[in-house]
Amino acid sequence: MSRPAAPRGTRDLFGDEVRRFHHIEGRAADCFRLYGYEELRTPVFENVELFRRAVGDTTDIVEKEMYVFEDRGGRALALRPEGTAGVVRAYLEHAWDQSAPVKKLFYAGPMFRAERPQAGRYREFRQTGGEFFGNGSPEADAETLLLMRDILAAAGLPKDAAVFSVNSLGCARCRPAFRDALRAYLEPKKATLCENCQRRLAVNPLRVLDCKGDGPALGDAPVSTDHLCADCRGHHDRVLALLRAASLRFVETPRLVRGLDYYTRTVFEVTVAGLGAQDAIGAGGRYDGLVKSLGGPDTPAVGFAFGVDRLARALEAHRVVIPAPRRVFIAQTGNGTADAAFRLADEMRAGGLWESAPLAVEVGAPGKSLKSQFRAADGWGAAWVLLVGEEELKKQTVILKDLRAGSQREVSLARAVTEVLETIAAEKPS
Ligand code: HAM
Repeated sequence: MSRPAAPRGTRDLFGDEVRRFHHIEGRAADCFRLYGYEELRTPVFENVELFRRAVGDTTDIVEKEMYVFEDRGGRALALRPEGTAGVVRAYLEHAWDQSAPVKKLFYAGPMFRAERPQAGRYREFRQTGGEFFGNGSPEADAETLLLMRDILAAAGLPKDAAVFSVNSLGCARCRPAFRDALRAYLEPKKATLCENCQRRLAVNPLRVLDCKGDGPALGDAPVSTDHLCADCRGHHDRVLALLRAASLRFVETPRLVRGLDYYTRTVFEVTVAGLGAQDAIGAGGRYDGLVKSLGGPDTPAVGFAFGVDRLARALEAHRVVIPAPRRVFIAQTGNGTADAAFRLADEMRAGGLWESAPLAVEVGAPGKSLKSQFRAADGWGAAWVLLVGEEELKKQTVILKDLRAGSQREVSLARAVTEVLETIAAEKPS
């Protein structure tokens, strides 16, 4: 009978990969807290209407990529394709717009998009991101970018590996002029555009710039920064000045448009070279109109999300080592050794509850031969075996074996736990 397989575009996470995910989400959470963010966990599915209104009806995400389903009560739901819409929904649902108009929220979790899978692009992927409500200043945008920089540094990505691209899309006042210029530029090329873009041209020409199909080259299309109103220009210049003063490595990218409709003014994307086509490890921007368009008061907001799967690939590509737990296997042989082995494991686990050098402790099953216990230790990836033998126990000692070095020494039973912990702490993580 054929064995079941994970659905296309999804995968199991284990071993080094899952360790990298924990590391990224953990270091990101530290940074978010440092910047005053609180964690929010929103549902994995929401009413489909929320994404239509927030992300935009003419975006690829809403038009083609959402997992939409009807529940038994006939409600139209969707697996969340991104995190911002749910966070804004929660911000309004809990009336934080009234009780805490300035609010910073962060999240981590799976997102779902029915995209064509390839290296770095999945149908289930994970994001960790943050949303900053109630501060419309350029300082809030610059701070958001510096927070992204700090998360990458805390995750261990080398300083020069990431490039920040920054642009401004203008606001509700100046965007129409840009849209008109874009439409005028695209209209003569209409016949060469894909079917989707021909339709989008009338409603939302910005989406044409974001087309993933093989349409015509649009390298000389008008750019948003040529159409900014005085306020947006001033805002943008101040963001760039703050980033320069902070020595952030960024490039002004007038062609950056982003694939979601809610953005206003500042938008940005972070890429890492060497990851192939899917080199964007994170992105975001300001979205001053979204809270209001979902029924709330006029509230400025800015946010971003890292793709955890892609950031994990970047760490791997840059050979960033995440410390693995040191595995200690306690083997036993002979009469009366099971009690001592059981007690040793308990003491060692109590001593191992410290974060900087994680420890994993396993005990051989009583009654199994020494050979089979060593096989188990090997299969489990033990670095050390603590052997509790009948003869040694009489002398109140145990044997500590370093499996990689192939060496061993006898240590006193009373000091065994301290001895192992000290030896491990002195080792370099691998
Ligand atoms: P986004 O650019 O659609 O923005 O996604 C953010 C990041 O998620 C991307 O840069 C990428 O690293 C990762 N990502 C997206 N799709 C996939 C996929 N199919 N497979 C693997 N990784 C993927 C947003 O989602 C916005 N909500 C960000 C934001 C927050 N803007 C304001 N606040």
